[in-house]
Amino acid sequence: MNAQVDRPIGCVALLFAMEEEGRPIAERLSLGEAEQLHEQLPARIRRGRLGSLEIIHCVNGVDPIHGVDRIGTESATLTAWLLAETCRPDLLVNAGTCGGFESRGGSIGRTYLASGDLLFHDHKVPIPGFREQGEGRIATLDTGKLANTLGIRTGVVSSGASLTARPDELEFFDREAVIAKDMEATAIGVVARDLGLPFLALKAVTDLVDHPEPSHEAFLRNLASTTARLTDHLEALLRFIEEGRSIQDLAG
Ligand code: ADE
Repeated sequence: MNAQVDRPIGCVALLFAMEEEGRPIAERLSLGEAEQLHEQLPARIRRGRLGSLEIIHCVNGVDPIHGVDRIGTESATLTAWLLAETCRPDLLVNAGTCGGFESRGGSIGRTYLASGDLLFHDHKVPIPGFREQGEGRIATLDTGKLANTLGIRTGVVSSGASLTARPDELEFFDREAVIAKDMEATAIGVVARDLGLPFLALKAVTDLVDHPEPSHEAFLRNLASTTARLTDHLEALLRFIEEGRSIQDLAG
């Protein structure tokens, strides 16, 4: 996949881990009925348009054994690869919720565009080469100007397999000045980098990692209200792109 960085973006694929994160934008844009992305996977896509822009909306789907959304890095990788190869979008956007950090200005509902490097905080292999691979450090587009235009903040995103955080991970977040902790963005970023596909991550805070309240309680309480904020920002991003923007216009 070789992105045409100076041509207007024609097709954007949106990837969500949870149905509840993705449903509001699908309804707002009146996207079509859900179809299976692959006959043996629960991932679903919905297609539609926003003016001249083709939108492909994808959720990982519901795990057939456990009856809950397939969150996490493994499903993120699998769905991202299949989505990119099947639909060949010009841009991939991972939109979803994250844990924020009160100590770095985070608050419930605040939305961030990933900037700098995408990290993994729980891939620990203390062997040269594997250590660096484990930490990810996947370069993102330079989103500063875009974030300013949209009136949202930027920050470092780090992904891992757990909603909870261990003490060594809390140290990692401080050391790396992480702003958003999620369970998908960096895994998707690896796929996007391998495929040469431009990628953005848009993350809205449901809970504060450095707050005494357990993350899962705040997450469940704030999921709907935070997703409403995320949806407003995602719509603003798509409307901006629809005005004939290229990848070059989004970066730098
Ligand atoms: N998504 C929402 N809150 C999260 C957290 N605290 N950790 C990982 N992913 C999240």
